[in-house]
Amino acid sequence: MPIEILPSLLAADFGYLADGARRAETAGGDALHVDIMDGHFVPNLSFGPDVVAAARRAVALRLNVHLMLTHPDRYVPRFADAGADAISFHVEADCDVAATLAVIRARGLSAGLVLKPATPADAIRPFLGQFDFVLCMTVEPGYGGQSFMDGMRPKIRQVRTLSETAAPHPFPIMVDGGINADTAARCAAAGANQFVAGNSLYSAPDMGAAIAAMRAAATAAFARTPTGSL
Ligand code: DX5
Ligand code: ZN
Repeated sequence: MPIEILPSLLAADFGYLADGARRAETAGGDALHVDIMDGHFVPNLSFGPDVVAAARRAVALRLNVHLMLTHPDRYVPRFADAGADAISFHVEADCDVAATLAVIRARGLSAGLVLKPATPADAIRPFLGQFDFVLCMTVEPGYGGQSFMDGMRPKIRQVRTLSETAAPHPFPIMVDGGINADTAARCAAAGANQFVAGNSLYSAPDMGAAIAAMRAAATAAFARTPTGSL
């Protein structure tokens, strides 16, 4: 399963978002992660569909849109129209989860299910086969620059077990929050293979070197897992 690094636009300079998106592309990011917050599901506000459309014009990178919204189902079509390639939303949201996953897939996009730190791995079980990836939050969603929650690793391992033993096909596991080369390797050892990183990449003097270092650390750790040796 490929290792992917996704710079998070939330950590870019908001005065120069197109430049921030292009920086992620030039540095070798695999996709651009775009955080959408409604000030209700999480206590912060960030971007709307027009910012996703602007990123779409700025880069050819895949756009991975993370909806932190109470009603993600109401906004999926607008983010799809804006040029998202993948849309994830929270299993804790106030919507019909299966129907919302189906709408995202019907638009031809990759559909992701996100778990807050307190939500158990088993929450994805009813939806196995209906999503394309799982995002395990490694901080409370809402803000960049928080510290990685090391206690999430057993849950990542449980999600990887569900991926390998209960799902119709193994699915990628993404982590988001406090990710740097060291914490990416710890998550990879637990079975994660997609890494969202905001501050650690955007504050690096050389984002390309930071992505390469994160990729090398995660690749080595993931290869040592049972999944990595498949
Ligand atoms: C947090 C967002 C993250 C955020 C991560 O709610 O979902 O994507 O950008 O930022 P860092 O990597 O700085 O923790
Ligand atoms: Zn995110």
